[in-house]
Amino acid sequence: MSANPTQRFLTGITTTGTPHLGNYVGSIRPAVAASQRADVQSFYFLADYHALVKCDDPVRIQRSTLEIAASWLAAGLDPERVTFYRQSDIPEIPELTWLLTCVTGKGLLNRAHAYKASVDKNQAAGHDPDADINAGLFMYPVLMAADILMFKAHKVPVGRDQIQHIEMARDIALRFNHLFGEHLLAPEAVVDASVALLPGLDGRKMSKSYDNTIALFAPAAVLRKQVAAIRTDSRGPGEPKAVEGSALFDIYRAFGTDAETKAWREAFAQGIAWGDAKAQLFERIDREIAPMRGRYQALLADPSAIEMLLQRGAEKARAQARPFLAELRHAVGLRRIEAAAVGASDRLTKKAGKAGAPGFKQYREADGRFYFKLLDAQARLLVQSVGFASHQGAAALLGRLQREGAPAVVSNAAQLVVSPDVDSSDIDAALASFAGPTE
Ligand code: TRP
Repeated sequence: MSANPTQRFLTGITTTGTPHLGNYVGSIRPAVAASQRADVQSFYFLADYHALVKCDDPVRIQRSTLEIAASWLAAGLDPERVTFYRQSDIPEIPELTWLLTCVTGKGLLNRAHAYKASVDKNQAAGHDPDADINAGLFMYPVLMAADILMFKAHKVPVGRDQIQHIEMARDIALRFNHLFGEHLLAPEAVVDASVALLPGLDGRKMSKSYDNTIALFAPAAVLRKQVAAIRTDSRGPGEPKAVEGSALFDIYRAFGTDAETKAWREAFAQGIAWGDAKAQLFERIDREIAPMRGRYQALLADPSAIEMLLQRGAEKARAQARPFLAELRHAVGLRRIEAAAVGASDRLTKKAGKAGAPGFKQYREADGRFYFKLLDAQARLLVQSVGFASHQGAAALLGRLQREGAPAVVSNAAQLVVSPDVDSSDIDAALASFAGPTE
């Protein structure tokens, strides 16, 4: 593993709708800001496989993919800095999904909130528990785990409702590692408490399912109308107004600076008329959104440019996904059959894992040749030798490694296979804690 301090952030956006102001404040704006940090490497993708779970309208999926991609780009996402791609352009993701499916307990998935909520709803209505539930909904958390684990994400910025999915991805990663060695990185959810939920037109959380949203890139005239439709109480001009529970105020606060928000608080206390407050709120939102709106329209008008960006993003993503999936395929035993003799030693790997100590394993294969390998404390295979005609041949090289450490691995590269992602510090650590060869 490299000693790179960069944190990898990854998040997916399901492509089933048109972004609204709540998506902008809660997800797009903070994600674009995070992607500009020097210590962060970001992976943002359009989760169109996930969209299929809840949408069977092909035109809507395609249109939403375009609109969401254009929204993120218009909001300032720099596709040169960020790996920005469409999930379904990465065939390694569904392939990893299957490897993970086979180490995921069905009981774990039974407990997923979204699936359970659908079952509960059926039961409350007296229907069959699984009525109208597709298996995609059931498998949703495994696909999401594959999204995350494929790119070794450290942090996954999500809304509160997604925390359980990140915990499941952790569980699945640890289970895989327990069975096959330390390959997957257990991710952490990042829930930004400072990002307040934006209220919608009726004061409830802005959400497509409440039909109370304000479109993000609607023309200014539409934005003005929608802002005018935000619910207020019936206090007249000159009457002091409460900021608590005011959707107007909460939305203003999501856009205004601290000073602007403070001034608004005072205006409320002094009885600003609702009509004036709405006009000011519209102006404040529009000041931030108007330049993006222009870019958004230009992007929408040129879908082939976005398509090209996404293709380039997919290439970047696959440059990592391809070799990593090859490593994982090897780990589970999906290998070329010439290598079968080497694979037979996997049992040793697992036993060594239980022992918990790093060490050398010497063994003889069905081909009659003598081999050894170096494992770390997690029973991860670090280095494996080629086959030697004699026990002495293998033992001589093994002795050199013990005496000289990692440099001997380099100078004897022709006779050793170093596992992917292993570097000399891993080897030195294993050698340092090594008590003696096991025969
Ligand atoms: N399920 C997420 C949502 O509905 C979208 C998503 C798919 C995602 N894959 C992901 C989020 C991987 C984070 C990481 O919001």
